[in-house]
Amino acid sequence: MTDSVEHAHQHIAELSDLLRSHNHRYYVLANPELSDFEYDQLLLELERLEAHFPQLLSVDSPSQKVGSPISTRFAPYTHRLPMLSLAKAMTSPEVLDFDQRILKQLDELVPEDGRVEYICEPKFDGLAVELIYENGLLVSASTRGDGVTGEEITPNVKTIGAIPLSIRSDAPCPGLLEVRGEVYMPLAGFARMNEQRQADGLELYKNPRNAASGSLRQLDSAITAKRPLSFYAYALGVVEGHHGAPVASHMAAMQWLKSMRFPVYSDWIRVLRGADALIDYWQELLNARPQLPMEIDGVVVKVNSYALQRTLGQVSRSPRWAVAVKFPPEQQHTRVNDILITVGRTGALTPSADLAPVLVGGVTVSRAMLHNEDEIRRKDVRVGDWVVVQRAGDVIPEVVKVMTEKRSGAELPYCFPTHCPECGAVAIRPEGEAVKRCTNATSCPAQIREAIIHWASRDAMDIDGLGDKLVDQLINAGYIHTLADLYILTYEQLVKLDRFAHKSAQNLVDAIAVTRTKALPKLLFGLGIRLVGVHVAEVLANHFRNMDALRAATLEELQQIDAVGPKVAESVSHYFADPSVQQMLVQLNERGVLFEVMAEAPALSGDGPDLSGTVWVFTGALEKNSRSDAGALVKALGAKVTGSVSKKTTYLVAGPGAGSKLTKAQDLGVEIMDEATFLKMINLG
Ligand code: IVH
Repeated sequence: MTDSVEHAHQHIAELSDLLRSHNHRYYVLANPELSDFEYDQLLLELERLEAHFPQLLSVDSPSQKVGSPISTRFAPYTHRLPMLSLAKAMTSPEVLDFDQRILKQLDELVPEDGRVEYICEPKFDGLAVELIYENGLLVSASTRGDGVTGEEITPNVKTIGAIPLSIRSDAPCPGLLEVRGEVYMPLAGFARMNEQRQADGLELYKNPRNAASGSLRQLDSAITAKRPLSFYAYALGVVEGHHGAPVASHMAAMQWLKSMRFPVYSDWIRVLRGADALIDYWQELLNARPQLPMEIDGVVVKVNSYALQRTLGQVSRSPRWAVAVKFPPEQQHTRVNDILITVGRTGALTPSADLAPVLVGGVTVSRAMLHNEDEIRRKDVRVGDWVVVQRAGDVIPEVVKVMTEKRSGAELPYCFPTHCPECGAVAIRPEGEAVKRCTNATSCPAQIREAIIHWASRDAMDIDGLGDKLVDQLINAGYIHTLADLYILTYEQLVKLDRFAHKSAQNLVDAIAVTRTKALPKLLFGLGIRLVGVHVAEVLANHFRNMDALRAATLEELQQIDAVGPKVAESVSHYFADPSVQQMLVQLNERGVLFEVMAEAPALSGDGPDLSGTVWVFTGALEKNSRSDAGALVKALGAKVTGSVSKKTTYLVAGPGAGSKLTKAQDLGVEIMDEATFLKMINLG
C-alpha cells in the first residue's frame, strides 16, 4: 500500500470505530454523546474517504447502514421486505429536481397535464416499526434495525393503545398484513414524563424521539406500558390473502388502513400535483409545526400510484419514488444565565450555556452546547447575553449566535478556566487540539465518576445495578477514590448507604467480583482510554495478548497495527505513560483483576481450529451465544466477521428467524450451518 492509502486505511478504521460506538450509544443505549451535527461530520468524513478510496470500503462500514445496529438484547427479526430509508432534500430547488427526475424517468407514463400525483405527509420524528397481522391478529412487531433485520419487540408494542391488537371483524381481513409506521411520543406526554423523572431523580430523556426509542426498547414491557407512546401508520408491507379490491395507491392504502382502525394522520395527508404544490404544502406544514401535538422534522413526498412506484424502483436502499424534505432546525431566543464547565471521563472540560428555560418546538431547553474554548471566543458568548438557540431533533441544543444588538454593556467576555473546576488540577490544551483537559486523570472526582460509569457499562464490565446515582453515593461516602477501589467495596459499607437493601448490597458485591475475570478487550475498553472504542480494544487485546505487553509497547509498535492510527497510538501510549494510571493498574491487578487475554473466551485456549482466511456471517437467533459473542469466538481463532453475505463469505451460521442473508448465502453457494454444527466445528459443541 502506498503511504496515502495506508493512512486512509487507518483513518477509516478509526472513524468507523468511533461511529460504531456512537451508533451504539444512540440506538442501543438511547444515550447519545454527540449532537446530530457532530455525528454527521464524522460520517461525512468517512464517506469522503471511502469515495476517494473505494477499495477501502468494507461491507460493514458504518456508512453502509440504513439505521440502527441491532441490539443483542432482543431477538432479531428479518423483515420480509427491507424497510427502506428516504433520500433527503433540503431546499426547494432539490424538490424541483426530485419532480424533474420523476417526470423524466416516467416519460410517457406521465399524465397529459404533465403533472404526477404525489402524496405529502408529515415526517414523524419517532421510531419506525413493522406490525404483522395474521388472520387479523397482531402476532409480531419489530423495529427497523439496519433495514433488513430489526428487533422483535412484540410485547412492548402491544402496550401502545393506538395500535390495534386485532383488526375489526367487520372489515375484510387479509391472511397476512404488514403495517409500517412510526411510534412516537406526543410532546405533552414527553413533558409530563420528564417532569416525573426529574422529581424521581432519574436521568431526563433528551428529546421525544430518544424517549420513544428508549421506552419501546425496554426488556420489561410493564415499563413501556407506562410510557405515553402513540403511533401513526404510513405504509403497507407485504399483504397476502386479501380478497377485496387490490389497493392501487398510497392514498387508497391509507384509507384502507383507516377503515381497519389504524391511526392515520389524515389531517395532513394530501394528494397534490406538481412541484409548486409540494413546496406550498411544505411551507404550510412548517407554519403549523409549533401547534402540532408531536415532533415532526419535515415532509415526506411519495408518488401516489403503486404502479408508478414499481416503475420507478429504488437506488441503493432508498426508493426513487419518495423523498424527505427536511425542515430547518427550530430556533428561539433566550438569555445566558451562566457558562458552566463539566468534566468528562477523559478529563475534557466541556462548556455549556445555562439558559433561562425556553420552549423550542415543544421541548423546554435550559442548556445548550458551547463545544469548546474557541467556539465561545468565536461566537463571543458572554454571561447575560441574549442568544439564538436551536434544536433539530438534535441531541443537545446549540447556541447559534449572540444577539449583540441586545447587549446592555454589562456582559463580560468569558475567561475559560485554567484549572479543573472539580479538583483544581491544572487543565492543559495540547497544541493543535480544541479541547482543554484536567491533568488529574486518576483522582479528579468528576473523572472518576465518569470512569466508573463507563467501566460498569454494558460493553465493558457490564456491572448490573451500578448506575450514576450509586456511583455518586459511593464517591460522596468516601468509599471510592480510584477505579481500583471498586474491588475493595464491602457489603458492610454498601448496606450503610441510603436506600440500599441488604440483598442489593450483596448482589452488587457479587456483580463486581465476577468482573475480575472479564476478557481483556472488555477491560481495555472499560479503562476508557481516549479513542479506544470496542473495536480498537479488541484489536489491541488480540495483538498484545496481555496488559504488560501492551503497556510496554512503543508508539511505533502501536502504529504498526492495522486499525490503529497515529492518533489512537498516541492516546494509548500517553495513557500508559501516566504514573497515576500505572499506580491504578497495579492496584487493580493486586485486587484480583486479571490482565490476561480473553479470560472468558474458551476458543483461545488453543484447542480451536485455525480459522484464518475465513469470513463468517451470523444471522438469525442463536441460542448458546449472542451473535456478537459467537463472532468474538471465531475472530479469536483468526477469522473475519462481516455483517452481510457476499462472494467472499466462507460460512454462514444461521439460527431461527434467518431471512434474506440465508437466501443470499444459498444463492451464492456459501456453506451454511446451524449453531450446534458451528460449536462443534470450533470444539465447543
Ligand atoms: S415512508 C420508503 N412516511 O422516515 C419509505 N417514513 O427514512 C419508507 N418516517 O425511519 C418510509 N414519517 O420511520 C415514511 N410519513 C412517513 C414518515 C416516515 C417518518 C421515517 C421512517 C424512517 C424514515 C425513513
